[in-house]
Amino acid sequence: MRKLLIGTMLSTALTAYAAPTFAEEVEVLHWWTSGGEAAALDVLKKNLEAQGVTWKDMPVAGGGGEAAMTALRARVTAGNPPTAVQALGFDITDWAKQGVVGDLGEVAAKENWDAVVPAALQAFSKYDGKWIAAPVNVHSTNWVWINKKALDAAGGKAPETWDELIVVLDAMKANGISPIGHGGQAWQDATIFDAVVLSQGTDFYKASMIDLDPAALSGEQMVAVFDKMGKLKEYVDADFSGRDWNLASAMVIEGKAGMQFMGDWAKGEFLKAGQKPGTDFVCIRFPGTQGSVTFNSDQFMMFQVGDANKGAQLKMASAIEDPAFQSAFNVVKGSAPARTDVPNDAFDDCGKKAMADLAEADKNGKLFGSMAHGHANPAAVKNAMYDVITRHFNGELDSAAAAAALAEAVAAAKG
Ligand code: BGC
Repeated sequence: MRKLLIGTMLSTALTAYAAPTFAEEVEVLHWWTSGGEAAALDVLKKNLEAQGVTWKDMPVAGGGGEAAMTALRARVTAGNPPTAVQALGFDITDWAKQGVVGDLGEVAAKENWDAVVPAALQAFSKYDGKWIAAPVNVHSTNWVWINKKALDAAGGKAPETWDELIVVLDAMKANGISPIGHGGQAWQDATIFDAVVLSQGTDFYKASMIDLDPAALSGEQMVAVFDKMGKLKEYVDADFSGRDWNLASAMVIEGKAGMQFMGDWAKGEFLKAGQKPGTDFVCIRFPGTQGSVTFNSDQFMMFQVGDANKGAQLKMASAIEDPAFQSAFNVVKGSAPARTDVPNDAFDDCGKKAMADLAEADKNGKLFGSMAHGHANPAAVKNAMYDVITRHFNGELDSAAAAAALAEAVAAAKG
């Protein structure tokens, strides 16, 4: 009996001793909770699990990631940050300024990320010349996802101009469906706003959203943008308030709505539902923005972790930048790869278009950070804009008042 007990104690002790050498773990905070997003995340989970790294999931639902960033603040304040955090643009820089992020220099140098990640992304993946985040993808926000049957019933021609868009929306309305599938959440309103601002021209997008020129923010062109937002609102159903973006995608997938203005993560939902581009749905750039792209890149920002987890953190970063992973993940997610050297063979037509559009826009100086998704300005300015855009969309401000309020709110947020 005693022997047995000692034997059990010994083997328990051995297991406990041996465990840390192979129980590598990453705790990952993210907001990929919709069907398409979860399917894409699974590609990363499986990749790491195959390497013996355990995945501790910390999902915080809420498109655009605002809720995730609030949860992150609580963890960092408590002195217990996760290993890796899904983050966007200026949020990464803001965290880096706090001095709490990790250092991926070792793996980035070994794998020469400098040569394969475009400068527009590196601007956020690096701080003070050091790699602090591993970019997973490039999404863009100026897309329209159209139900093919609904489009055929509305004349069959995908709209290329604002006027053509209105004709199609009117036809869809006459056909008895909700022309636009939309969810009334500030970030979703802002996603449409991104596209409408860009449709006024790239100079205007740059002046207003990137350079925050007060004249552009408050001027006549901005009033025209708000007028267009107001016009689009007429085609949204009465129950839109608070609806999640993926439920709006589902309306289009099911033919209850005609189209959705949304970033290409929406494609992940169509694919997850078994739909095919060209057959079941059509992807086009928001009318008037052809050739230009407003982008956002999901990156896994790394936090300082103890030595025990450092190895797993670097393995995760390396797995993310693996070209085969970049292809497999982004095919499912709806985005383009973050690396420029990933072949487009595995991508569907919308994915191929996303990759070609990005390269072309970049070459022509028509690639801009998305305001709605944290790539044009720090969160304080973004949130100030969200507030005005949403108040206007909900009818609390007319277009002239909204343009004036936008310039004021941005000036106050800039401090
Ligand atoms: C992220 C996407 C995500 C979307 C909706 C965006 O800000 O970049 O990866 O799918 O929000 O949750």
